[in-house]
Amino acid sequence: MQSRVNINSVITPPEDAKISVLDHGLLFGDSIYEVLRTYEGKPFLFSRHFARLEHSAAGIGLQLPWTKPETLEQVHRTLIPGECRIRLVITRGVGEANPNTETCSDSAAIIIVVPLTSPEESIYQNGANVVISSVRRSGRYADIKTGSLIHQVLALREAKSKGAFEAILLTADNNLSDGITSNIYLVHNGVILTPSHDAGIVEGITRAVVLDLAQKMGIRVSEGLFHVTQIKRADEMFLTSTGREVVPITRVDGKPVGNGRPGPIATRLLEAYRAAIPSLLQED
Ligand SMILES: Cc1ncc(COP(=O)(O)O)c(C=O)c1O
Repeated sequence: MQSRVNINSVITPPEDAKISVLDHGLLFGDSIYEVLRTYEGKPFLFSRHFARLEHSAAGIGLQLPWTKPETLEQVHRTLIPGECRIRLVITRGVGEANPNTETCSDSAAIIIVVPLTSPEESIYQNGANVVISSVRRSGRYADIKTGSLIHQVLALREAKSKGAFEAILLTADNNLSDGITSNIYLVHNGVILTPSHDAGIVEGITRAVVLDLAQKMGIRVSEGLFHVTQIKRADEMFLTSTGREVVPITRVDGKPVGNGRPGPIATRLLEAYRAAIPSLLQED
């Protein structure tokens, strides 16, 4: 099915979707975004994504053009048959070709809906190969999802050049932060260790669900600062994101993690996550 784009409530095929070259989203990355997916054709955990969008908007002083019900209605209007990946972008809007936001007119709302592509099932069975990125996570605006994504772009270029599935970005102090577009977890002696807010992470929607499931399953979770050298001692590792759910990490920079096979905790959490989807779909 053809992808569809909604710009300010006008829906077109992608090739007809145009915004001005003077939009500050294009010129300065002055925009915010969310990436959602559907299960059974329904946008998943929309309220949680909208809350994070509001957090991002507040972080850069941007007025959202649509209310929450209006945004959901526009997302529904834009969906295509089958499971969808939905990129919701709000830009600062059209202004002068300088970074002065006072020159901008109304912000623009963009919804890009494409068919969802999920990782191959073999990734879940065999685990993913990731690398440590040479790109660092920058602290202050880390938890605001803005369109200034050059760090992610460069980290992904580097990861792809090494044939890696994902890259782990470190803080300036060599602590683990996030993947390029995922949250990262170590397991040591049965305890899940995951970088906390202080490590400059994006507070993943999937992360919150998975940590909640872990606690319900009686698995201890420790959030904090974890040095990159702790990977050597990890029994297992995994990552989470909206599109990839829970993916075991079995190699980092070519070296096996633990015994080099997907670990029992990642495997149990993936099963628990998939089992929880029907009830999570009941959330707005
Ligand atoms: C830096 C970063 N960390 C984590 C995530 C995972 O977040 P979520 O589970 O909400 O998809 C993302 C998603 O794009 C991200 O960009």
